[in-house]
Amino acid sequence: MYRCLVTGGAGFIGSNLVDKLIDLGFEVSVIDNLSSGKEEYINSKAKFYNLDIRSIKVKEIFKKERFHFVFHLAAQIDVRFSIKNPETDNHINVVGGVNILENCKKNNVRKIIFASTGGAIYGEDSSIPTLETAQPYPISPYGINKLCFEKYLNYYHKVFGQDYTVLRFANIYGPRQYKGGECGVVSIFIDKAINDEIYTINGDGSKTRDFVYVDDVVDAFIKAMDSEYSGEINIGLGKEVPIFDIVRFLDKALGKRTKRIYDSNIPGEQERSCLDASLARNILGWSPKVNLEEGIKKTIKWSQRNSI
Ligand SMILES: NC(=O)c1ccc[n+]([C@@H]2O[C@H](COP(=O)([O-])OP(=O)(O)OC[C@H]3O[C@@H](n4cnc5c(N)ncnc54)[C@H](O)[C@@H]3O)[C@@H](O)[C@H]2O)c1
Repeated sequence: MYRCLVTGGAGFIGSNLVDKLIDLGFEVSVIDNLSSGKEEYINSKAKFYNLDIRSIKVKEIFKKERFHFVFHLAAQIDVRFSIKNPETDNHINVVGGVNILENCKKNNVRKIIFASTGGAIYGEDSSIPTLETAQPYPISPYGINKLCFEKYLNYYHKVFGQDYTVLRFANIYGPRQYKGGECGVVSIFIDKAINDEIYTINGDGSKTRDFVYVDDVVDAFIKAMDSEYSGEINIGLGKEVPIFDIVRFLDKALGKRTKRIYDSNIPGEQERSCLDASLARNILGWSPKVNLEEGIKKTIKWSQRNSI
């Protein structure tokens, strides 16, 4: 029976992953400081350590729990926050990550699987859909720090033999997504629309993204456990979707014209983003099961059941 650690296990993706790992019969511990996560999202069968990933106490937890697998998801995830506070972003996303990684190395963790980003690592100039081999030119501290931690993983693998997989995700959405920051356009729009409030589209709605449903993301984490591949793998649908399609699907699912306004473009925000996930198909045997229209319906259902 594997013992697993999920950092960020009180968050949107982390808590969904913890539920799945427990369903599969694994022992799960969570390290999370609840800065954006919620304690009520943590599965009652998981052991919860309310702690910052930068804490010295992380060492004791690794010693005690002797993890086989570590899923590293705890992070500062807000791109706009990282632009205003690059040092804080660096401290959480690099220094905190290295603390987790160093403990993986010292305690013979079989594999660390890292939640990285395709959306924020590849720059505007990459061809679309973007392959892992594209030269990364991140244009935010968040993207730079995610890439920096990827390089640490590669270094620990080459020099110390620490196995890892980097999952470079497209835009993820689904139940429990954090709406307090500036991220998660699908969840923000759904939240406003079901409460009959006005949501804001920055630009004319023609910017494109690649949207992947959280259950498919959890499936990629599980498949990465069995893979011997240490490197970067894109996880996305490979479908370039204009932001306005979210609005169309929302209106259709709710049977009304949802209230929206248009505002100016945010400087520095990418026009296009879409990932080629053929490596995930070939190496992990991963393929997405949920398309955007269906995923929006599922997320609306969850949001309507849970007062948000
Ligand atoms: N949501 C997306 O579209 C997306 C896309 C690509 C990558 N990712 C990555 O996936 C991971 C999870 O993202 P999410 O969308 O679930 O975000 P989230 O904010 O819901 O989850 C992050 C969790 O980390 C915790 N956390 C933050 N700083 C911490 C610290 N210093 N110590 C301990 N815990 C801390 C938060 O409390 C939260 O529970 C992140 O690494 C993010 O960068 C997300």
